[in-house]
Amino acid sequence: MAEPLKLGFEAFSAAPKGVLILLCEEGLKLGPASRRALAPAGDLLQRAAAADRFTGKSGSALDIVAPNGLAATRLIVLGVGKPVKLKSNDFAKLGGAAMGRVPSSATEATLIAEFASGALKPEQSADIAHGARLRAYRFDLYKTKRKEGEDAPASTHLAIAVSNVAAAQKAWVSREGLTDGVIIARDLINEPANVLYPVEFARRASALKKLGVSVDVLDVPAMKKLGMNSLLAVGQGSVHDSRVVIMRWNGGKKGAPPISFIGKGVCFDTGGISIKPAAGMEDMKGDMAGAACVVGLMHALAARKAKVNVIGAIGLVENMPDGNAFRPGDIVKTMSGQTIEIINTDAEGRLVLADVLHYVNTKYEPKFMVNLATLTGAIIVALGQEYAGMFSNNDQLCDRLTKAGQATGERVWRMPLGPEYDKMIDSRFADMKNTGGRYGGSITAAQLLQRFVGKTPWAHLDIAGTALGSPQSDINRSWSSGWGVRLLNALVADHYEK
Ligand code: BES
Ligand code: MN
Ligand code: ZN
Repeated sequence: MAEPLKLGFEAFSAAPKGVLILLCEEGLKLGPASRRALAPAGDLLQRAAAADRFTGKSGSALDIVAPNGLAATRLIVLGVGKPVKLKSNDFAKLGGAAMGRVPSSATEATLIAEFASGALKPEQSADIAHGARLRAYRFDLYKTKRKEGEDAPASTHLAIAVSNVAAAQKAWVSREGLTDGVIIARDLINEPANVLYPVEFARRASALKKLGVSVDVLDVPAMKKLGMNSLLAVGQGSVHDSRVVIMRWNGGKKGAPPISFIGKGVCFDTGGISIKPAAGMEDMKGDMAGAACVVGLMHALAARKAKVNVIGAIGLVENMPDGNAFRPGDIVKTMSGQTIEIINTDAEGRLVLADVLHYVNTKYEPKFMVNLATLTGAIIVALGQEYAGMFSNNDQLCDRLTKAGQATGERVWRMPLGPEYDKMIDSRFADMKNTGGRYGGSITAAQLLQRFVGKTPWAHLDIAGTALGSPQSDINRSWSSGWGVRLLNALVADHYEK
C-alpha cells in the first residue's frame, strides 16, 4: 500500500516547504527558528492570534491559508501550553494533532521541532514523527473509486526540522520499528477474512524472518500430534485449515528464559453452531486482533534489536458453522490433558488460547506469559473502550503493565479472579465447561485461561473493547487501533532488556 506519509529530518537552517507547522507556548511564545521562519510575514501571527483569541493553550491551533509574506502554502501554529510536563506520549499526540491539520492534498510539510524554551530532544522529535505517521495511517486498499469532487489524497512528505539531524535520525530508528509494528497490526486487523484466513495470516507473519525472527508454523497434522484438540475443534468447521505460529526473537543472553506473548487469532468468528446475530457480525474479521498485536510487537522488538529473548505465539482458526463443525455438548481433550465440555461454540477464543498457553508454558518455560484476546463482549460492557481488562496471577506484572499503560495511553484495568468464579466453570461431564453463565462473563473466561498457565506469572488482556472500532484519537483514525503494540513495547523496554 502507498504510504500516506514519508518522513525526514532536516536542519533548522533548511528552507521550510509546503505547509509550515510551528509549536507555540502559552503566552504566544515561539522559539528562535520559528520566529525566523515567520519574520517575512511581519506581525501576521500577532494579528491572527488576536483575531482568534489564540494564546498557545494546549490543544488549540491557528490555521492560516496562504499566509501573506511567506512561501508556505499554509501556516499551522499548534498551542502546546506550558510544555515542561510533556511526556513521550504527549509528543506522539502532538505529532498526530499536527498531521491531522495537514490537508490530505498537501505534498509537503515542515514542522519546526522547537519550543520557545529551546529545541526538542532527539527522542521528542522522534515521538512527534511516530504520532504523525500513526495519524496519517489509512487503509484504502480496496477503494477503487473516489466520491465526486473528492481530491486524490497525496502522499505527504513531512520534514521535521531539528537542531541535530543525526541524533534525531538515530532516535527515530527504534521509533520507526515501533511505528511499523503498529501499522502491521492495524493492516492485519483491517483485512477482510476472505483475504486473511489462517494460512495467509501465517504467511504474513513469516515476513518477520527478514528481521532475524525465527518463525515456525504448526500445521494441522503437527497440532494433532501435539494433542491441540481444543484449538482444532474450533477450526474444524472451516474450509480453511488452522495454524499455530511460533515467532522467536533472541536478542538477549544466550539460554536466558524468554518472555512470551500469546495472541487469539480467530480470523473470523461467526459464533459457529451457536451462531451470532447478523448485526455487526462483519466486525468479527477483527477477532484476530490479539494475534495481530503479537506480530506487530515482534516486528517492533526485532526492528529495534531489543536485548531480550521473546516468544510470540498465535493460534489461528476460523470459527464457522458447518456439517463438520464442533457442537454444544461436545467434549474436547486439550493438549494439557484437561477436558472441556462445550456449552457455547461462540466461546471459542478461550479454547484456542488454552492449547497455545499450555504449549508455550511447557515448551519454553517463559519468565511470564501475557496473552491478548478479543475475548468477551462483557468486557466492553464493563470498561467501555478506554481500558482493556487485565486478569493476572502476578501483582508485579500487573503493576508494570499498569504503568506502561499510563505512559503509552494504552491503559489496562485489573479485574478480579478467584475460586468462587473458578467454580462457575466446573462441568457435570468434563473437567470444565467453556462458559460460566451470564454473570461475570469476562471473569469466567479468564478463569478458564488460568487453568492452563500453571504457576507461571501470567496476564490476560481482554481487548475486545480497545482493539476494534475504538474512539478516534490524535494518533488513530482507523477502525483498528493496533492496540497493545505500544503498551507491550514499553513493558519490554522498561523492565526486560537489562
Ligand atoms: N469474539 C467474541 C467477543 C467479542 C465481542 C469481541 C465483541 C469483539 C467484540 C467472542 O468469541 C465471543 O463471542 N464471546 C462471547 C462469549 C459468550 C458466548 C460466553 C460473548 O462475549 O458474547
Ligand atoms: Mn465467539
Ligand atoms: Zn471470538
